[in-house]
Amino acid sequence: MTIDPAHPVPPVLPRYAGPNQIPPHIPKGLIRSIGLTTGAEFLASPHDFMAKLHEKQPPIFYDVNDFCNAWQIIKHEDALFALRHPEYFSNEGATPFPRDPDDYFYFIPIEIDPPQHRKYRNIVDPLFSPQGVLRLEGLIRQRARDLLDQFAGTGECEFTTAFGRPLPVSVFLDIMGLPQDMRDTFVQWAVDLLHSQDRETMGKAMRLISAYIKQAIAEKRAKPDDGVVSRIAHAAPDGIPLSDKEVFGFVIFLFIGGLDTVFATLNNIWLWLAQNPERCQEIINRPQDINAIVEELLRRWSVTFSGRVVAKDVELRGVKMKAGDRVTSILPACNFDPEVFPDPLKVDFDRPRKTILAFTVGVHSCMGGHLARLEVKIALQEWLSRIPQFAVKPGRKIEYRPGGVVGPKYLPLVW
Ligand code: HEM
Repeated sequence: MTIDPAHPVPPVLPRYAGPNQIPPHIPKGLIRSIGLTTGAEFLASPHDFMAKLHEKQPPIFYDVNDFCNAWQIIKHEDALFALRHPEYFSNEGATPFPRDPDDYFYFIPIEIDPPQHRKYRNIVDPLFSPQGVLRLEGLIRQRARDLLDQFAGTGECEFTTAFGRPLPVSVFLDIMGLPQDMRDTFVQWAVDLLHSQDRETMGKAMRLISAYIKQAIAEKRAKPDDGVVSRIAHAAPDGIPLSDKEVFGFVIFLFIGGLDTVFATLNNIWLWLAQNPERCQEIINRPQDINAIVEELLRRWSVTFSGRVVAKDVELRGVKMKAGDRVTSILPACNFDPEVFPDPLKVDFDRPRKTILAFTVGVHSCMGGHLARLEVKIALQEWLSRIPQFAVKPGRKIEYRPGGVVGPKYLPLVW
């Protein structure tokens, strides 16, 4: 069915959850309950858990859990196929975030299939292109330096609150044209929405975010500026202004896609650096290779997943999927496919270049990918020039947050 993003309606598609809601066509031999994103084994060490899926599970299996039963893809090749074939694997109704059915909207562009999808990306893609984000280099560097000034001389910090969260969130607010004093509030909303695993908390966070964003859009409509919110609010593809629902759904999805992902990525990388100080020195010694270094770190520490809905019956690796089935590509597991990345858990800055799946591929490949790469690069350069060696604070246990963006909750560091 072709949807009309200007006039959104809640999807009729059911979301099956738990052992009593397994469709009859799912072969019994492929049903699992692996505890992805929430189970104790996953939370003990998420990336090791996802790498081991290649030894423990079939390449495609059907995971049953309390949140959403779905096919799971872990092979790099299968994910490339699913993500590059939206005619079979649709994004309509594919995100897990709850919305008020009486005031429904689509998350744009993530819930829109081609060909409609392109008109939305055209509005903001130039700002997020490699050239577009290079304009931000000086600003990001300055924000990183300002943060480091506050704690580099103290010999310790809680990385998450001192650097990992504030850096990407303040850069995001700059780009969006939103005020810096909203930084900590934005972080909390993102945590509640993406990590609470509780529909009531998620719903409450969504209401608060919605109210703030609606007000921000109204202000930008009245008083345009150079920020992304204003650009979306005033966009008129093919001469037709976006409707209120389209503007809102676009801006709110940037909030969801652009905040927590960079922050979780930094947390994962800094934990690994703290545990492997000789690799800090290696990065410092190879400034000319910084782009390859960032790419390998993004492969090794990718943080999220791609959800789709089967649009028409399809067979993948002999597994028959039916229209309406939900499918998740476990992107970190795909980045650990040993057939594509031998010795996949090893961080090897000299790996032959292959397509990494941290930002997905295909029409929905991450709009903020170039920005995220630049942020990780600048964060590494600025941090290591001031704090070249550091360790996890002795006696502190690292815990991971449950949810769809994978990373440690807190990261206490000393140097
Ligand atoms: C390291 C940081 C990031 C990671 C790992 C990441 C990952 C991803 C992934 C995997 C997708 C595809 C999801 C799917 O296929 O269902 C995606 C889409 C998207 N991301 Fe990111 N992202 C990051 C940073 C950002 C930033 C900084 C922004 C914006 C400021 C952003 C905006 C978006 C948007 C708008 C989409 C939807 C694209 C579309 O549907 O066409 N992301 N991201």
